[in-house]
Amino acid sequence: MDRSNPVPVQISASEAAQGAQQWLRMLAQAGATMLPHLDQSVSNSPSEHWSDPWSDLWRQVIVVPEPSHSAPSVTAQPPAIPSSASPTRQQEIQPPTRSSPAGSSSAHSAPKNPPTASVAPVETTARPPLAEPSRTTPSPNLKSVIQQVEKAALTTYRDWDDPTRVIQLRQLEEQVTACTLCSDLVKFRTQPVFGVGNVRPRLVMIGEAPGVDEDRMGEPFVGASGQLLDKIIAAMKLRRQDVYILNTVKCRPPQNRNPTDTECLNCRPYWEGQLELLQPEVIVCLGAVASKTLLQTTQPVGQLRGAIHEYRGVKVVVTYHPSYLLRTESAKRQTWDDMKVVMNVLGQAP
Ligand code: URA
Repeated sequence: MDRSNPVPVQISASEAAQGAQQWLRMLAQAGATMLPHLDQSVSNSPSEHWSDPWSDLWRQVIVVPEPSHSAPSVTAQPPAIPSSASPTRQQEIQPPTRSSPAGSSSAHSAPKNPPTASVAPVETTARPPLAEPSRTTPSPNLKSVIQQVEKAALTTYRDWDDPTRVIQLRQLEEQVTACTLCSDLVKFRTQPVFGVGNVRPRLVMIGEAPGVDEDRMGEPFVGASGQLLDKIIAAMKLRRQDVYILNTVKCRPPQNRNPTDTECLNCRPYWEGQLELLQPEVIVCLGAVASKTLLQTTQPVGQLRGAIHEYRGVKVVVTYHPSYLLRTESAKRQTWDDMKVVMNVLGQAP
């Protein structure tokens, strides 16, 4: 691909949706590509020292409505890449600009060789204005593309202060995505669920395995137990994005059965790799599967909680799984006691 001389590409909304996964992969790779472009002396200031090869490419992609239905006209722009600011972990970038010039450009009418690689979408008068361009109600497909791009962009830039770790985690995630060791799980999974959160976390929370919601969304603890976990995290005066959340087993066991010993064993190198990269100060094991696997014990949660354990020099606190708490209101008090221990370790007054 000649990035110095990009040719505008006109794609339909459904093509854009199909290409979304590929685009996200490219975005991840862009992290690796960008790294050598950083001037070490200004490593916190991307600006002109940072050449993002994919933003120019994305600028050349113009999403147009399907002819068969009245899908809206939306010109997809790249995520707004800060050109002079230094993004920090707290700074979230603006979502991609969505603008829709009435006359979208056409691959046929656009100049073959725009003067520079950083040109804005090419304007043309060749195409008559589209009726009623609706920017507020993009088609479901395009909406999904935009949401995925926004999510990927936020993740990328929030993690700006440690791109190396982000890349290492993404490489590990690629291995998990390609893993087919557990034939029973591979058959039924929508996708493996790797883990999310702060890549320099003080606190890591490890659960059991994805449920139906997590399998669909690709993110741990997004269902009912996830909502309770969010409340627990908030009660600890933390935000979900301060913590890294992962599971012992990355793929959803069918019918939400417990993962088998073999499945836990197969996944072990993945969460071990994650913890090795994340280097948290405290690990919270949520429930029996996580605590037994991590601590290599057969003791139940009731006996493990109330003490500080250790995994490779990192403090480990065991508590009940949020889905157990949803069924057993009375256990919430004990989990709160466990979280107070965690807060103490982190030097935070409950
Ligand atoms: N239960 C888990 O253990 N992990 C999830 O991600 C969701 C529910």
